[in-house]
Amino acid sequence: MISNIAILGAQAGDEAKGAWTNRLSKDYDWVIRFNGGNNAGHTIYRNGQKHVHHLMPSFNWEYNHTKAFLSSNMVIDLIALNSEINQLFKIDPELPKRVFVDPDAFLVLDKHIEEDKLKNGNLGTTNKGIGPAYTDKINRTGIRIRDLLLSNDRSLNVDGWSREAFKALLEKGVQFKGILELYNHFNQDRLLFEGAQGVLLDVNHGTYPYVSSSQSGVAGIYSSGFHFAPPKVVYGVTKCYTTKVGTGPFPTEIFGESANKIREIGKEYGATTGRPRRIGWLDLPALKYGALRGGITNWIMTKFDVLDGLAEVPVCTSYDKEVTCSEDFFNTKPQYVNFAGWTNSKDINLIQPFINNIQELTKINISYISCGVNEEDTFKL
Ligand code: IMP
Repeated sequence: MISNIAILGAQAGDEAKGAWTNRLSKDYDWVIRFNGGNNAGHTIYRNGQKHVHHLMPSFNWEYNHTKAFLSSNMVIDLIALNSEINQLFKIDPELPKRVFVDPDAFLVLDKHIEEDKLKNGNLGTTNKGIGPAYTDKINRTGIRIRDLLLSNDRSLNVDGWSREAFKALLEKGVQFKGILELYNHFNQDRLLFEGAQGVLLDVNHGTYPYVSSSQSGVAGIYSSGFHFAPPKVVYGVTKCYTTKVGTGPFPTEIFGESANKIREIGKEYGATTGRPRRIGWLDLPALKYGALRGGITNWIMTKFDVLDGLAEVPVCTSYDKEVTCSEDFFNTKPQYVNFAGWTNSKDINLIQPFINNIQELTKINISYISCGVNEEDTFKL
């Protein structure tokens, strides 16, 4: 029997979670997004075609049993959701019927996006209105999808475009159903929980205030109401180096030619905003911290091909101080060990020593690796 699993970002987002969720989703009935909104950008290649999901869970719809669920712990921009559903509809008009949205999720409205643009520049947010929408929720002034379902009341402060998008979603057959309405399914079916962002951007445990506004660790699963069906294995996805968009501490950041080379080979530009990502070496104290705070039990390590040809691969194995809280990522000095590089990551024997070192130093096993976007570039260890 297959147990429920979670796939979450072990760094600051952009670790290729979407690709791995899509790949593993064939063995699951539901792919459940449990945090954030369309600040996420999950890139998936299907039959040589590139798809970027922002709100849509990365389910592989080619398998008829897979369905998608957007949980109540998310904040949802209905206009953005409608444009993703339109793409699904073009592929097959039946597909939107396999997308379920919890009506207890809160709305991201025009005003939230405007506020994000005005106020959050210094944090380098994605300007998708995420922080202001969660602020309204916690402040008890937010509007839920359920409010739209219950009322045609024009006094409800929802812009016309969001109302139109909601109508369009209903017409295309997207199902607005809560967790208890689907309880019997969730209780019996196989669930894959897909995180957004990464544990270092978690509002509780990340590098505050340079974080997103939701829980990117397992807490987001429980906040969504899935305590009755928790994941048995929690995969933390990490690249074999580090990237970050937006501002905030980045102890292992590198600049100049080495950074530019990795950025170009790894196509390290934001999937949501197109911003060039900051680049750095793999940071084991950060990974270990993220695993403890986010509930990670196993690693998935990606993008080995990007470092093909380096004679040595520096890895930060410690800081000048022990990490006991997220504040320790500010003003810290990373200490490096240079591990032997590899010429061709498609030959697993060449990267095995690196894999062994990371497992030993983090005390967490690597379950899967990838060295490219195609199926044949992925390996179960
Ligand atoms: P917000 O989520 O738009 O409020 O942005 C807060 C911080 O999280 C910024 O540094 C963003 O660049 C970062 N961020 C948000 N979503 C993602 C993501 O999916 N991948 C990587 N970084 C993200």
